[in-house]
Amino acid sequence: MNTVKVGLLGLGTVGGGTVSILQNTMDEISRRLGQNIEVVIIAVRDINRARPVDTTGITITDNTAEVVNHPDVDIVVELMGGTTLAKTLLETAIENGKHIVTANKALIAEHGNALFNKAKEKGVLIGYEAAVAGGIPVIKAVREGLAANKIEWIAGIINGTGNYILTEMKKPGADFAQVLKVAQELGYAEADPTFDVEGIDAAHKLTILASIAFGIELQFNKVYTEGISKVTADDIRYASLLGYEIKHLGVASRAENGYSLRVHPTLVPKNVLLANVNGVMNAVMAKGNHVGPTMYYGPGAGAGPTASAVVADIIDVIRWKNQPQADQVPALAFAQDKLESAPV
Ligand code: NAP
Ligand code: HSE
Repeated sequence: MNTVKVGLLGLGTVGGGTVSILQNTMDEISRRLGQNIEVVIIAVRDINRARPVDTTGITITDNTAEVVNHPDVDIVVELMGGTTLAKTLLETAIENGKHIVTANKALIAEHGNALFNKAKEKGVLIGYEAAVAGGIPVIKAVREGLAANKIEWIAGIINGTGNYILTEMKKPGADFAQVLKVAQELGYAEADPTFDVEGIDAAHKLTILASIAFGIELQFNKVYTEGISKVTADDIRYASLLGYEIKHLGVASRAENGYSLRVHPTLVPKNVLLANVNGVMNAVMAKGNHVGPTMYYGPGAGAGPTASAVVADIIDVIRWKNQPQADQVPALAFAQDKLESAPV
């Protein structure tokens, strides 16, 4: 059986989850795919740190350039985060003709337009399903499943850490800082948790969702962004007495002269489905003109769910490599339709 070689940038929460899935589920995956997937090299910051996964036979390096220039690597999987080094590395990888899979929503939201163009020029794919809503295959659902529709709006709970905090804060005596610390220990939070609590992470994800739903360019700097850092336990209690839950929502809709993108805490009536999405779970609703309202629900962060989406993208890239018609795998960026540069 042929083997596709993968190089990873990062072996933290998501990188560890990815290696674990590839090690523990390879029999099942390769039986369905007809090919093996082998991780040959991983770059980390600290090569001496003990890792929760078996790295026997894998080159572990602190030289990130080694991964993107590795002659045997077919797919570079970026799971280190950040937008500076990650961008440079992915540009080099694309230049070298490697396909990309990434969970990095900041990178896609802020630099995706340029990266997608470069990838298109070089005929390589960028898979980024894991960048939005963790384990929920929402990018595929919106781009493929709702392809027949004009999407009227897309909205949802798209930050697991924030939703976990708001849920835990309902418990008597809960303390914001303490709950955030637990979310970090569970591997839900960003390296800089300000991104979670100030709405920046949700804004990155909404930028990506809106681009797919409306066929517009990624325009992160246009998103109205407000987080949950000012929401108190009293706010949550009083909202509840009035029949509401406080949820941090991302909402993208069509507006008179373009599109409206915003993330902020919202009073959601308790009888609405979104009000009952708790803990690290995410839910995204999209309304299509033909299908009406649809909803996608699942774990929005953490090693297993996020790595599930990463590995699915690796598999999609391999399927495409075997049959390289762009429309075979429309969820990947290479197949992105011509994007409209529309005001947001
Ligand atoms: P993480 O646990 O902090 O892991 C980051 C990994 O990257 C670590 O292995 C780290 O090495 C390595 N790394 C960071 N900077 C590096 C550098 N300059 N050179 C070499 N290696 C470097 O982060 P994570 O939670 O897995 O998140 C990774 C990415 O996935 C981020 O873009 C994040 O936004 C995204 N994401 C995360 C989740 C989640 O639930 N955690 C969900 C969806 C998307 P060391 O281990 O040696 O420090
Ligand atoms: N920090 C992010 C969250 C990770 O909590 O939703 C998943 O994208």
